[in-house]
Amino acid sequence: IPTAEQISRESLINKSAVMFDILRASSTVCTALANGCQAVLPVSEVADALALAQSLPEQTCLLGGERGAVRLPGFHLGNSPSEYTRPVVQGKTIILTTTNGTRAIRLAAAGSGLVIIGSLLNVTATARALVAAGRDVALVCAGTRGQFSLEDTLAAGLVIRQLLKLLPSGEATAPAAAPASDGPYAEERPLYKGRPLVLTDAAMAALRLAEYYSANPLQALHDSLHGQKLVQLGLASDLAYCAQVDLLEVVPVYRQGKITLAGEA
Ligand code: MLT
Repeated sequence: IPTAEQISRESLINKSAVMFDILRASSTVCTALANGCQAVLPVSEVADALALAQSLPEQTCLLGGERGAVRLPGFHLGNSPSEYTRPVVQGKTIILTTTNGTRAIRLAAAGSGLVIIGSLLNVTATARALVAAGRDVALVCAGTRGQFSLEDTLAAGLVIRQLLKLLPSGEATAPAAAPASDGPYAEERPLYKGRPLVLTDAAMAALRLAEYYSANPLQALHDSLHGQKLVQLGLASDLAYCAQVDLLEVVPVYRQGKITLAGEA
């Protein structure tokens, strides 16, 4: 479980990656797609977002995003999932630029495998898609300016917890080993409780965090630095929305510059 800043291309090769930015980019992407938006185009820089908007038909495209959690001047939408309602986004392409999340999506895609946008809203749908893909998994936490973030690690832990439910013990046929790219001695890690799964120490820590907060994920969002910033900005309702585990069934997938629902082009 690296933060986006720590990720290396090598550590993503042949893996399914999930990018988590719970507050709020991942939650916004999941909500927009659940409400019928056609595609989200994540862009790192504001200038690039504006230039991309110039090249797309005005009536089908919306500009969304934030800096400092505040909507950007001239943009149609900020980065609150509550703005991405069906009447607003259905059938639209959304160009999204956010401080950490949209950049992290592009970094998570460096291994060119499956890249899912994960949030608390779609934990089970994400875990099911990972099992179906049948590859090693990299859970990439966007973090806050490169630093560890509680809420992203919680989501990663909840996905691991769900993977453990979906992969019952006794199914392992061959000793699995963590790829060497996961660090020294990775290959010596044992299977987790007889499951076809090897957890790194970071994954184990995320799992324990998820167990701690599972009865009250909203508490984790309030405990987090970025959560507290959003509350100060009067956005506590975004925390309440983003904390709803498994509210949505969606699996947003990033491919060649665009996020769509799994199975859609
Ligand atoms: C980000 O990408 O840094 C966040 O989603 C910020 C926010 O809360 O809007």
